Amino acid sequence: MAEQVKVALIPGDGIGPEVVSEARRLLAHVRTLGGPVVQTTTFDLSADRYLRTGETLPDAEFEQLRDGFDAILLGALGDPRVPDHAHARDIVLGLRTRLDLYINLRPIRLLHPAHGALKGDPAIDMVVFRENTEGLYTGIGGQFKRGTADEVAIEAELNTRKGVQRIIEAAFDFAATHGRRRVTLADKSNAMRHGHDLWQRVFAEVAAGYPGIEASHLYVDALVMEMVRDPSALDVIVTNNLFGDIITDLGAQLQGGMGLAASANLHPGRPGLFEPVHGSAPALVGTGSANPLAAHLSVAMMMRQVGFPTVADAIESAVATCLAEGHTTPELGGTLSTSEVTDHLLSSL
Ligand code: IPM
Ligand code: MN
Repeated sequence: MAEQVKVALIPGDGIGPEVVSEARRLLAHVRTLGGPVVQTTTFDLSADRYLRTGETLPDAEFEQLRDGFDAILLGALGDPRVPDHAHARDIVLGLRTRLDLYINLRPIRLLHPAHGALKGDPAIDMVVFRENTEGLYTGIGGQFKRGTADEVAIEAELNTRKGVQRIIEAAFDFAATHGRRRVTLADKSNAMRHGHDLWQRVFAEVAAGYPGIEASHLYVDALVMEMVRDPSALDVIVTNNLFGDIITDLGAQLQGGMGLAASANLHPGRPGLFEPVHGSAPALVGTGSANPLAAHLSVAMMMRQVGFPTVADAIESAVATCLAEGHTTPELGGTLSTSEVTDHLLSSL
């Protein structure tokens, strides 16, 4: 009998439910590709619920998500009715930190040359290891004399040796096990002398254990230039939480836009959280034009993580086929709706 995999679905807000329902069709199909039987359970963690009940990520559901599943798929969070994004922060950042998913793995790969933002069809195949639990994302800081002319606001950047070391190790380990040649650290150690000096020292220590992998360094401002100027020279990139957030949106454009950018939040040995990078896109809700391919590519990452790499490869090449044949939503030049793109993907599988 085929192996069973339990997947929690968090459709969330905006186009999240639309792309998650497409991903669910793909999850139902993976069995026919030699993949597992996927059993899904849907969790209502969303703006609707927050507005209705005031709840964001209640402990009982957090514990179920932590203990009851092999993987979690999140659609998107963000809703104009919650302008301060309180629920999105509690849910997305809450899951990342409370599950200690310290690796935010974001591949940047151009699957079809017609769709990249750059001229001249450069080869683009980099992988960003974004630190996912500390940096400027911890909420450490405070406001003083709020609303007055003397107001002070402090947002502290947390860099722990343990946190820095484990993400850098993850990047080198990935490079070593995936035939990658180079790991580049992106920081701002020329201006941020305390935290980013720690990154520099730990990077050198970890790199020494991987003599076969070239260790290189770019200040993050120079890195974004290189991502556009000569992206084929970049391979594995390791960086902190905020820089990783910013550079992966640039990366999404290099690979064809938000409709194609997938991600995984991981802690080796624990269930991972997989999400398309695109966000809730309120303007697209109900138009049938949301691109489901980022969600499908996130399912591919999930399949690789739960032990079905051939299923992951098959999904990725079927996505590439959809792109090559122009079976896409309008933002990539096609004429198909969200669910028609999935129809094509499933038929080319
Ligand atoms: C992302 C998002 C989140 C982040 C937001 C929604 C807090 O932009 O996953 O990239 O900054 O990490
Ligand atoms: Mn982001």
